[in-house]
Amino acid sequence: MAALSSFLFLSIFLSYSLLIDGQSPGDLRLIRNGVSRLSYSYGRLQIYASTGWGEVCGDNFNITERNVACHQLGYSSSLNNDTINSYGSDVGSVSISEVNCYGNSEYLHLLRCSYRKGFHTCQRNYVTLYCNSTNNPPYDSQLRLLYGTTSSNGLVQVYCSGQWGTVCGRYFTPDAAHLVCRQLGYTSAKSYSNGTFQASYWTPIWLDNLYCSASPTEVCLGSCASCTGSRVSTYQCSHSYDLNVHCVYEALHYEEGSNTTSCESIELRPRLGEVRQLTVVGSSS
Ligand SMILES: *[C@@H]1O[C@H](CO)[C@@H](O)[C@H](O)[C@H]1NC(C)=O
Ligand SMILES: *[C@@H]1O[C@H](CO)[C@@H](O)[C@H](O)[C@H]1NC(C)=O
Ligand SMILES: *[C@@H]1O[C@H](CO)[C@@H](O)[C@H](O)[C@H]1NC(C)=O
Ligand SMILES: *[C@@H]1O[C@H](CO)[C@@H](O)[C@H](O)[C@H]1NC(C)=O
Ligand SMILES: *[C@@H]1O[C@H](CO)[C@@H](O)[C@H](O)[C@H]1NC(C)=O
Repeated sequence: MAALSSFLFLSIFLSYSLLIDGQSPGDLRLIRNGVSRLSYSYGRLQIYASTGWGEVCGDNFNITERNVACHQLGYSSSLNNDTINSYGSDVGSVSISEVNCYGNSEYLHLLRCSYRKGFHTCQRNYVTLYCNSTNNPPYDSQLRLLYGTTSSNGLVQVYCSGQWGTVCGRYFTPDAAHLVCRQLGYTSAKSYSNGTFQASYWTPIWLDNLYCSASPTEVCLGSCASCTGSRVSTYQCSHSYDLNVHCVYEALHYEEGSNTTSCESIELRPRLGEVRQLTVVGSSS
């Protein structure tokens, strides 16, 4: 009995902690004098490695790399501000250096760029990043993650008909979760769940019964979902089933998509043959 309850406790703890303590290698954060918050748009940049949070060496970390880091943190761009080495002397060891995105400012994840791992002399030239907190206007089927512990996990929101809404996680597939993560610039979903983080009552639920194709080259949710402007009725789904994901980036081998622009041009209609089922039940139209 004790064994069973500790097993139950452990499994509840594990499934909970997947999202709550959900940082993964490659995650970024901004830190100011020892404090880090998801809401920060500027601060000293740190990256999570298997050994913990560490510094990004600022050698050649110019506007291209800054833009990519800001995209990963959820912003449209970086302010071109090369201030280095501020916000505290509580620096960790250097996790990566010589980051080079080869002029591809459009990337969504810093690990798409080349870099050197580990400890190198960095001459205390750490990156202080200033992201532009005025984002581009969202496009239909754009995704974002809210309320997570780092920017790679949280409540999934999708933009439709001029408004951010949620995705029903009640009937949902691993393939659809991978697609959500790929559109956000990651390679796959580590986990997904219902309702850990929920939107407010008035937020529309835009998508339900989302079964997406498993094709690893597909990177845009718009390829398997339509944005009709009709909410899922609360009878069908409630915010307690709001989809949450935890995305990961597994380096190498990943070439498709992951650009800021790659999903803007996707026509928002189901493509025949790729959609097994799509139901957006309207309560208002
Ligand atoms: C950014 O750095 C790269 C070298 O890593 C260099 O080739 C490029 O010209 C730099 N760009 C700017 C705008 O300074
Ligand atoms: C550049 O950084 C400084 C802080 O060192 C800040 O006061 C200034 O507003 C920033 N410049 C821009 C263009 O944001
Ligand atoms: C910040 O981003 C917005 C939206 O893309 C853009 O209009 C504005 O010019 C940017 N500001 C700076 C200082 O780059
Ligand atoms: C969400 O909850 C439903 C009902 O409890 C369950 O069947 C489903 O597997 C859950 N979905 C996820 C993504 O955890
Ligand atoms: C992503 O951006 C790179 C460089 O800007 C470009 O070569 C590539 O074609 C883009 N990929 C997609 C899928 O848009």
